[in-house]
Amino acid sequence: MSKHQADFSARLTAVRSALKSAGVDALWVSQPENVNYLSGFSSPEDAKALILPDAAWLYTDGRYTLQAAQESAIPVFIARSPETLQHAAPLLSGLKVGFEMQHLTVAELGALQAHWPTEPAPLSGVVERLRLIKSDAEVQLIEQAQAIADAAFAELLPMVKVGAREQDLALALESAMRRLGADGPAFETIVASGVRGALPHGRASDKVLAEGELVTIDFGARLGGYFSDSTRTLALGEVSESQRRMYTAVLEAEETALAAIKPGVRTADLDALAREVLGRYDLADAFVHSLGHGVGLNVHEGPGLRSTSEEVLQAGMVITIEPGVYIEHLGGVRIEDLVLVTDEGSRVLSHSPKERF
Ligand code: GLY
Ligand code: MN
Ligand code: MN
Repeated sequence: MSKHQADFSARLTAVRSALKSAGVDALWVSQPENVNYLSGFSSPEDAKALILPDAAWLYTDGRYTLQAAQESAIPVFIARSPETLQHAAPLLSGLKVGFEMQHLTVAELGALQAHWPTEPAPLSGVVERLRLIKSDAEVQLIEQAQAIADAAFAELLPMVKVGAREQDLALALESAMRRLGADGPAFETIVASGVRGALPHGRASDKVLAEGELVTIDFGARLGGYFSDSTRTLALGEVSESQRRMYTAVLEAEETALAAIKPGVRTADLDALAREVLGRYDLADAFVHSLGHGVGLNVHEGPGLRSTSEEVLQAGMVITIEPGVYIEHLGGVRIEDLVLVTDEGSRVLSHSPKERF
């Protein structure tokens, strides 16, 4: 058995055991990244999977006959719905089947009900929970994606200067990531300078960088289905005392949270720690999003690092730490690192240099 097959059979064993605990025998998988996770098929947005107690099927259509045969670790059935559902129906006889309630439309549920012998049961997060802990091979891909992003950012740095256009910087960064081996950007690169920095997800615009501004660049690469995610905020020449103070506060919040990462820590407590630091600078209200999130086959996945999160850090999780402050008419700062939780504590995977005042 190849290493590849060994990985997927372990995943199937784990998902079957999770299904048993959830009180069902089978799972209809419609969340694309979950389909990829369980089969290895790299176009999962055009596929579904069926996990049975002693079999598993990947369903996709004729455009992917060759690709699915090459990539899928589980048997493939080529058809379009409702033929796929008709193929599954006799396999489900006498079984209780679950579906992913967050990833099925009302129309799709209606089709399952129309074709299958038993009423499917709504389930939530079964495969996502397995994906929380990354294997060594998954960590390697995430780390490689981040290394490509860091190398591209190093190439970009000399271009980040007064007179440059935000859109040109985003394009240069994305093109460098591709040239350096990425499959593509992880998301639309964020470049937000000056007062636009107050937009946490400010798309790169035609604004030109000006002296005395801060510029936030949030970038990631995609590789083998996995993502990286990191952010740096840079100063263009001399910045004001209030900008400097914002930056210092965010850096201190980030470093405080980074230092506290280890297995057993509640993610809500990490979020609180960063908020506490920003509170000391009277900037807690300007931190308008959560501290971070898991990264893997999705840029945003579990665990969540927010005040309402109930998750606890475990070795093998890959998370971001990304405090930020955003003030209308003044601008914003975000600093984001990608971190692997290890048995000993943590290992930061992102290495782009940080501005220090
Ligand atoms: N780039 C999106 C985020 O940092 O979460
Ligand atoms: Mn980001
Ligand atoms: Mn992020």
